[in-house]
Amino acid sequence: MSAESAVLEKIRPDAEEDARIKKAADDLVKTVKDYISVHDLDIKVRLVGSYAKGTYLSAPDLDLFMLFPEGTPHSILEDIGLQAGEDILHGIRMYSEHPYTRGVFEGVSVDLVPSIALKNTLKLQTAVDRTPFHTDYILSKLDDAKKDQVRLLKAFMKGIEAYGAEPNTRGFSGYLCELLIVKYGSFDEVLEAASDWREGTTIVIEKKGPPMIGPLVVYDPVDERRNVASAVHIDTMSLFIVAAKAYLEEPSERFFFPRKRVPLTKEELQKKTEEHGSRIMTVIFKRPDVVEDNLYSQLWKTQYALTKKLNDFDYNVLRAVHNMTDDTLEIAFEIERDVLSKTYKHAGPPVFVKTAASFLNKWKDNEYGKPFIEDGCWNVIAERMYFTAQEMITDEAAISGIGREIDPDTMKILDHDTSVMSADPELLTELLDPIQIWER
Ligand code: UTP
Ligand code: MN
Repeated sequence: MSAESAVLEKIRPDAEEDARIKKAADDLVKTVKDYISVHDLDIKVRLVGSYAKGTYLSAPDLDLFMLFPEGTPHSILEDIGLQAGEDILHGIRMYSEHPYTRGVFEGVSVDLVPSIALKNTLKLQTAVDRTPFHTDYILSKLDDAKKDQVRLLKAFMKGIEAYGAEPNTRGFSGYLCELLIVKYGSFDEVLEAASDWREGTTIVIEKKGPPMIGPLVVYDPVDERRNVASAVHIDTMSLFIVAAKAYLEEPSERFFFPRKRVPLTKEELQKKTEEHGSRIMTVIFKRPDVVEDNLYSQLWKTQYALTKKLNDFDYNVLRAVHNMTDDTLEIAFEIERDVLSKTYKHAGPPVFVKTAASFLNKWKDNEYGKPFIEDGCWNVIAERMYFTAQEMITDEAAISGIGREIDPDTMKILDHDTSVMSADPELLTELLDPIQIWER
């Protein structure tokens, strides 16, 4: 048996699970239909997403759409749709660009999404309007054998942590995986194709739309104005390309079922930094009570903002990684140095300009020596504003452009020794000793 058919055996839901999902789906549709008729509403219901397409892995979610007649005002759709979500699922209200309810029904997680029933794709307005058309398109293109190929591709993406268009993975959505199978025919052929991808690769399945910028462009067959791969970050695309080449070279179940990594011990972590001649600093914030997806983009933003500050102040970031726990947001930095000299060279004006006099006057009693000439300009040795990276981040974090809902007042900074002793060892291991997931 090839590696892939063995993997398929493991990832394809078994008959028992299929039956459980089918029962939940059937009961959910009936419950929503009953709700609609009791409340005398003119709404159609439709299962969409991977369950409806037969491309789900084990423990799938159900995506159920409530389709309101064309012309229904958005406010009504929202009021009735969310009320139904509350009554039926007792779920939580979610807002992406569109309101919907997320809850659990008979042990299966469900997204109940109000939207408009459109006859064709000419009047698409919101992102969710496309979803029923995606379902129709995929069903018309994939037979059972190809659905299994989608499952392999999705499981591979999950294994290498490139699955999902959410801000934490910045990767490949289920629909994008389906389209890649439509385009290339099989799991292996998608990997072959990906081996030749480069930044800006453009994939046309039905119709080429307007030019679009992005690391990967895949025109949506149901709406060529839309790039299905718009969430794919250049780093996630690169990860997939590298994984595809590695798998083709040497196929292994490790790509689908990665091992959990044993973190380095405190001694090993300390030894790594000594070898690198580098220092660690960990910044920890309290996790605010907001939707996880929104928080992930803010965590990335915070990591980038603090990296910029550290670089601007000459601490020079070698690498940064982050993690979200139930109550904290943690960013670990490996930096070239965490303490700078007490003084630095402060550049002044050329000697022959008028303002040179006031520069000299300002620095005439300077504690660290008189101004001197270098390359035609006055220079002076002055005291730094911050010596340690910790002091700098303490003062500058709040004005560095961190995520909007992340509170700088909750910030704790662990210096090198405290980081080694008490920061999350998995995070520091990833920071100091990166290894591809399938090579663990
Ligand atoms: P899901 O995220 O539930 O994806 O979105 P899925 O295809 O059902 O895959 P899994 O198995 O649950 O992971 C449901 C539908 O919403 C649309 C697609 O039509 C998808 O099938 N969608 C979702 C997008 O077009 N883009 C996205 O980024 C997310
Ligand atoms: Mn789904």
